[in-house]
Amino acid sequence: MFRRYQRTQEAPPPPKIEADPQEVAKKAKQRVDTAKRALSAGELADLQRESKRQERLLDVRMELHKRLLESLNLAALDRASEQELRHEIGAIAREGLRENGVVLNAAESEQLMQDLYDEITGLGPLEVLLKDKTVNDILVNGPTQIFVEREGRLELTPIRFKDDRHLMRVIDKIVSAVGRRVDESHPYVDARLADGSRFNAMVPPCAVDGALVSIRKFNNDKLSIDELIDYGAMTEEMAAYLQAAVATRLNILVSGGTGSGKTTNLNALSSFIDDHERIVTIEDTAELKLQQVHVGRMESRPPNVEGRGEVTQRDLLRNALRMRPDRIIVGETRGDEVIDMLQAMNTGHDGSMTTIHANSARDALSRLENMIAMSGVDMPLKAMRGQIASALNLVVQVSRLQDGSRRMLSITEVTGMEGDIISMQELFRFKRMGIDERGKIIGRFEATGLRSKYSERFAQWGFDLPTSIYTAPRD
Ligand SMILES: Nc1ncnc2c1ncn2[C@@H]1O[C@H](COP(=O)(O)OP(=O)(O)O)[C@@H](O)[C@H]1O
Ligand SMILES: [Mg+2]
Repeated sequence: MFRRYQRTQEAPPPPKIEADPQEVAKKAKQRVDTAKRALSAGELADLQRESKRQERLLDVRMELHKRLLESLNLAALDRASEQELRHEIGAIAREGLRENGVVLNAAESEQLMQDLYDEITGLGPLEVLLKDKTVNDILVNGPTQIFVEREGRLELTPIRFKDDRHLMRVIDKIVSAVGRRVDESHPYVDARLADGSRFNAMVPPCAVDGALVSIRKFNNDKLSIDELIDYGAMTEEMAAYLQAAVATRLNILVSGGTGSGKTTNLNALSSFIDDHERIVTIEDTAELKLQQVHVGRMESRPPNVEGRGEVTQRDLLRNALRMRPDRIIVGETRGDEVIDMLQAMNTGHDGSMTTIHANSARDALSRLENMIAMSGVDMPLKAMRGQIASALNLVVQVSRLQDGSRRMLSITEVTGMEGDIISMQELFRFKRMGIDERGKIIGRFEATGLRSKYSERFAQWGFDLPTSIYTAPRD
């Protein structure tokens, strides 16, 4: 029988767009109107003058920017020193201001020069958004629509590119800096900016209404275990358990959806690794920020313009095995590196960790199976599962709930095989109990009452966890 598709609880809600620009403009006007009534006539005149002046300054800035683009030798830009460039920009700008009869005070003038400098050397209008610490993602839909994500919400910004060409110029600048190209014949590109942010662009004709750009800013401050506990992402008991698990070198898989906190948790878990161990990390985009001293970081590389020079995660992983690592951390397992990862876990590189895109611990295991099958390895299902069951010790499921909060939904141990099935036992879980009037999810973390299969091992390694942490609540 046909059943209507039901969204699972884990699926994050579509991002809310704050308001449409017309709404925002109307509200702003209302605020101004209210403010006006409260002002005296003199103050009002001042305010209007000031706002006229600001408008005019904006025009002048646009005008100057255009003039700069025309008069500066763009090809020579890369070779000019910062001082030369600032000098040149200053000269052209002052001339323009004089011609337009605009007089600025020292602070305004300094700000204007800085803005122009940023626009010329950096990423133009995007520069301020990149510098804004409260902005997580920047999403450009053509030259006149730029959204940002702040605290999990999307909002439209007043920032604009002058036109399609201006936007394309900035995109070109970004991609050529990383040795790539984007044009009609190769209309999309994925790259990493100098600060670690992730950049993706899709240009016309594939992008219908002007180039699409998404920038996921690199968050330099990774959350620590303590912060995750403070934020309600896990409990102290869960942290104590995970500390023992990491320190005693269990192989751990962190599973979750996009943006659910996989990388964050992997990073936080790695803080439990002993400082004397040699760790190598393998990622498609270097995001992990381990605190240990002895870390070898590697990043895969897509093919260059001629389609050559690709280095995959699998290549890196194979090479890593020859680098005498104590631990291997793969940022996210997505493809045929899975085979080598499991093999490494099974052959002495215990204590390895990775993440995977999946919605539950069980789902994570079937994703692994799928990846093995897709990689072309011909292995009976049972053998495949045996391989997984003996490699993996623990699956940590994280999730971004409907209210935007991120939590560790479950900690599950892989206990072996029962017939053809991989057996697991859940030790900790987040139990949802409802939703409050503001849409916040109410719930609590609880132990399931099962004791860790690795209790003995923990004790031998000096992590004698009290049995109370495994005790289920009585009600
Ligand atoms: N428990 C948490 N509380 C608040 N913010 C979090 C939490 N976990 C992760 N984040 C934030 O969520 C964003 C996405 O996290 P990330 O680990 O990159 O997700 P994933 O790797 O699953 O795509 C980051 O900005 C991170 O700082
Ligand atoms: Mg990630």
